[in-house]
Amino acid sequence: MVSRTLPWMGLGISTNASASARPNPYRLLDRRPGIFDYVEYSAPLEIERARREASLFETMWNRRADVPLLFHPVHLNLYGPELEREEDLAALSRHLREIGSPWVSNDVAWWHSAGRAFAGYLYLAPPLTKEAIGDCARHALHVQSAIEVPLLLENPAIVSVRGPLHVLDFMAELHAKTGLDLLVDVGHLFSHQLSRGLDPASGLDGFPFEAVVEIHIAGGVIAERGTRRFYVDDHPQPIREEVLELFERIATRCPRLRAITYEGDGHPEHLAEDMLARLRRSLPERGETVMQDNLHRAAVHEAKTDAWALFDLAYGGQVPDPALDQEAETFELDLRLAVLAERLDRRLPLTRVLVSGTREALVAFSRSEEHKEGFRGLGRDLSESYKRFVRRRLREEPDDSIAAVFAIESWANEIASHASSGIAAARLPRDLREVQHARRSIERHLASFARISGLWDHQALSSIAQAARRAPERDWEVVVRVRGESVEIFDREEAIASGLFSS
Ligand SMILES: [Fe+2]
Repeated sequence: MVSRTLPWMGLGISTNASASARPNPYRLLDRRPGIFDYVEYSAPLEIERARREASLFETMWNRRADVPLLFHPVHLNLYGPELEREEDLAALSRHLREIGSPWVSNDVAWWHSAGRAFAGYLYLAPPLTKEAIGDCARHALHVQSAIEVPLLLENPAIVSVRGPLHVLDFMAELHAKTGLDLLVDVGHLFSHQLSRGLDPASGLDGFPFEAVVEIHIAGGVIAERGTRRFYVDDHPQPIREEVLELFERIATRCPRLRAITYEGDGHPEHLAEDMLARLRRSLPERGETVMQDNLHRAAVHEAKTDAWALFDLAYGGQVPDPALDQEAETFELDLRLAVLAERLDRRLPLTRVLVSGTREALVAFSRSEEHKEGFRGLGRDLSESYKRFVRRRLREEPDDSIAAVFAIESWANEIASHASSGIAAARLPRDLREVQHARRSIERHLASFARISGLWDHQALSSIAQAARRAPERDWEVVVRVRGESVEIFDREEAIASGLFSS
């Protein structure tokens, strides 16, 4: 039987289900019983995989009778070129049933392709057009038809607004088309308002607040570019007062509200305590369980928008149409490039700075076929796509010093992948100590200068290329360590002296 009940959940906290992440909801709850009522978590769709990969999962599972769970999967497309596969939705359905999630929510966006999520989970929000509403409705009803609990549609974070509709009108029409209830993420709404230069509360009148079942509130950063301001949704950042004010205006207008989730991942526990206490004051009186109704049937039709063209635009592979908001496109591309650089630096830090040290050189990768192919099922992960890109670059423009650095970093990654304890000694054929030193010291110098001047002088990076060109061809004894998703190379003697490695 299909369950469409929406029980009262109260005030919740979100987690990415990692036991090492701050705040740890259960530690917080043990110290302050009753400080929140439920946990909303993100994890893989497959519950077996979530059990294996999410280190907090066991605690969540063991305590679920006292601390109810809401699943907020991030690996779930509600926009994009392809509908979710049946087997993945079956896995989602099983996951929801086993943990007893009364509903499931996700941002209306293209989150992943061929199992690859966008770096930093910087998904692609749909264009705010009538055609895209149809495409999102098709995705949403496809997901809903495969699961037994209601799917809530969350308004996406938006940096570059593409399309004429107000995001609240877009969500209202998506709700009308699907019959699915809504989740309002206040920071996401604020991002739309700021990008469009609107008042934070613009567009609230006429919005179907009676469809809102859950509210999200999280941290973020305001950036200024000339006369423009943009909001970057970034949970570990402090929550902006503007967002809290908007939250208070919205929370009082939703008669069917069942849950307020504080997406406080990355906040220290003492701050989380204060924020939860503040949010508790805005929580409406406990409401009765309500039903979701008017669910519409999936309309089968072809996609009307070209999500791959949006991919090209977002990653700099297309000359933006003059009708688009150029400043916002530039800002969004910068955001994506910053995340790509940060991710690539986890495994290939020296190669990345030598091959893609400037914005222009990094765009050459972000817009490349190698990057795009990764989202079409070729290559395991981002660093594999990047390696293919670097190999092509080296074929087109041979450079022995870069080739040597690239070979050594690739080799270190290989050694790391076989190191069962996460750490291994190795002998490398070239001594890269000066290249490592150059990278660290130049970046430190540039960062302290940039803090004042706002300028990052890429010319200074040429010192790293010089160090790579004169790197001695001699054996280098190293220790390779895996740390989270990073692979680090340490000089063996230094690793022993600092106690990182023994023998
Ligand atoms: Fe959210």
